Amino acid sequence: MTASVLSPRTVRTVKATAPILRERGLEISRRMYEILFQHEEIKRLFNQSHHGQSGSQPRSLAGAVHAYADNIDRLDECGPMVERIAQKHTSLNIQSEQYPYVGRALIGALKDVLGQAATDEVIAAWTQAYDFLADTDAPGA
Ligand code: HEM
Repeated sequence: MTASVLSPRTVRTVKATAPILRERGLEISRRMYEILFQHEEIKRLFNQSHHGQSGSQPRSLAGAVHAYADNIDRLDECGPMVERIAQKHTSLNIQSEQYPYVGRALIGALKDVLGQAATDEVIAAWTQAYDFLADTDAPGA
């Protein structure tokens, strides 16, 4: 069960990762999809032409993750972005049971790309922040 609000400490920790997410966001999202696509049933949901040379999907996800981190202390301003992404997932019939796959892939990618900068505190804060976002985005939220 996810907390209905994020603690001030979680908010501070996630916000502090915004600069590195801007710098290395694409690397993180590419690694995230690499981990995620180890699950054939999840890979099948994605249009693979958005993951090749153009890389529009990793770019889009990197932008969303950075914006989330940077605005985590004023989430009311992210409403339109969160709404647009949620509509996309609804139209694709994404199920709430699929969110943990993406969460594990994101956390794995943060660890792999950030190395020592992905401290236990950063990982704990991002786990909470992802679950919080997933609760808002998933169907039935
Ligand atoms: C809170 C977690 C998530 C975030 C922040 C997120 C973010 C995004 C973003 C930014 C887009 C692009 C939207 C656009 O530009 O129109 C997108 C598309 C998509 N998302 Fe998610 N997503 C999340 C969870 C999930 C989950 C759990 C699944 C299913 C396993 C999923 C599957 C997809 C698919 C299939 C697309 C369309 C990609 C394509 O063009 O092939 N997402 N997501």
